[in-house]
Amino acid sequence: MSIGTPGSEVVLETSRLLLRPWRVAEAAVQRELWTERDPRVPPHRRIDADGHPTVAELEDSIRTNELWSSGLLAVERKATRDVVGYCGIVDSGRGPAGEPELAFELLRRVWCQGYATEAASAVLEGARASGYERLWATVWDWNSASRRVLAKIGFTETDRQEVDAVHGITLFTVKQL
Ligand SMILES: CC(C)(COP(=O)(O)OP(=O)(O)OC[C@H]1O[C@@H](n2cnc3c(N)ncnc32)[C@H](O)[C@@H]1OP(=O)(O)O)[C@@H](O)C(=O)NCCC(=O)NCCS
Repeated sequence: MSIGTPGSEVVLETSRLLLRPWRVAEAAVQRELWTERDPRVPPHRRIDADGHPTVAELEDSIRTNELWSSGLLAVERKATRDVVGYCGIVDSGRGPAGEPELAFELLRRVWCQGYATEAASAVLEGARASGYERLWATVWDWNSASRRVLAKIGFTETDRQEVDAVHGITLFTVKQL
């Protein structure tokens, strides 16, 4: 699952952002994202009682998992050269074959400046240019900020929902490219 030309480094550019493969040295940013997750996010996506995943484990994941080089791209601010999160597409297996999910997550300190909307718009454009025709996005019903971003970039809610008694309802949204 990738955006861009197969075999070449994926780079998308917007007025304020560069989206490109993660570097091993940026594992600490990924760990910060883990530590900041909302308590309503399921445990397998939160730091566990023993401190896993550690920075070293996340470094290994960046080294070995191509998700971090061609799927979920690092979002770098051009003005400050810092990585503030990720945005991209991932084959979660929840949608039809060939229709990946859009995903994004940013550090809290940069929220509400339009970065997610800007990054996701570039990813949509890249996905369209790579031949994808439809993307999905799943979002917890309580996640108002993410639902707002998805609405701004043209995703619409479908009838499909998954109800989890503890964590809430997962809404399935879709966008034709
Ligand atoms: C979702 C997320 C990526 C948004 O990033 P961002 O850069 O702040 O997004 P933007 O600034 O582009 O847009 C956010 C929009 O949500 C709105 N918003 C923010 N918090 C909100 C809230 N609590 N309730 C309602 N709307 C909210 C903002 O006002 C803005 O809308 P506007 O442009 O109409 O004013 C960020 O909140 C995040 O990383 N959340 C945790 C991870 C996550 O939820 N990922 C998505 C999983 S589906």
